[in-house]
Amino acid sequence: MEPIALRSVLAQWASGVVIVTTIRDNGTRHGMTASSFTSVALEPPLVSICLASDSTTCRLIRESGVFAVNVLGHDHEDISRRFAGPALRGDRFALGRWTSAKTGSAVLRDAVAWMDCVVAACHPAGDHTIVLGLVQEAAAPRPAPPLIYHDRTYYEGIAR
Ligand SMILES: Cc1cc2nc3c(=O)[nH]c(=O)nc-3n(C[C@H](O)[C@H](O)[C@H](O)COP(=O)(O)O)c2cc1C
Repeated sequence: MEPIALRSVLAQWASGVVIVTTIRDNGTRHGMTASSFTSVALEPPLVSICLASDSTTCRLIRESGVFAVNVLGHDHEDISRRFAGPALRGDRFALGRWTSAKTGSAVLRDAVAWMDCVVAACHPAGDHTIVLGLVQEAAAPRPAPPLIYHDRTYYEGIAR
């Protein structure tokens, strides 16, 4: 199957949107937008993300062994776009109110939810890497509708 055709089919799957963050060894933070977040297990508490192996975030998570997942709210489309755009054009973290969790990874103060993780395993999967995280700390700071992504369009996840 052609990757471009498959991408259009897969775009029909609706998902939430997260910002995955980690730290460089010099202490600076990095992060990217992702929709491949999945809850995996409660005992032990495991979550997964699936990242392009050549992304900066994937490389840095492998190096640091830590990451945080921030679940975006319905009003966070600007943050999602910023963290998916070119990192070199300014600090992605200039948008949003960020603080550091236990591992040093950045968490969004008004995220719908966040999970701070240490890497439990990295599994190569084609041109991507499935990263399993063991949750160290988690919170749901803001009870708000989530940001939804479907067919390359953002939606506000309002209840019917
Ligand atoms: C809504 C949305 C969801 C995305 N989900 C993923 C994902 O799950 N995995 C991935 O590798 N890239 C995903 N991307 C693309 C990355 O955000 C983008 O390639 C980013 O620039 C990578 O940054 P980095 O190279 O600085 O780590 C997504 C982009 C958008 C807009």
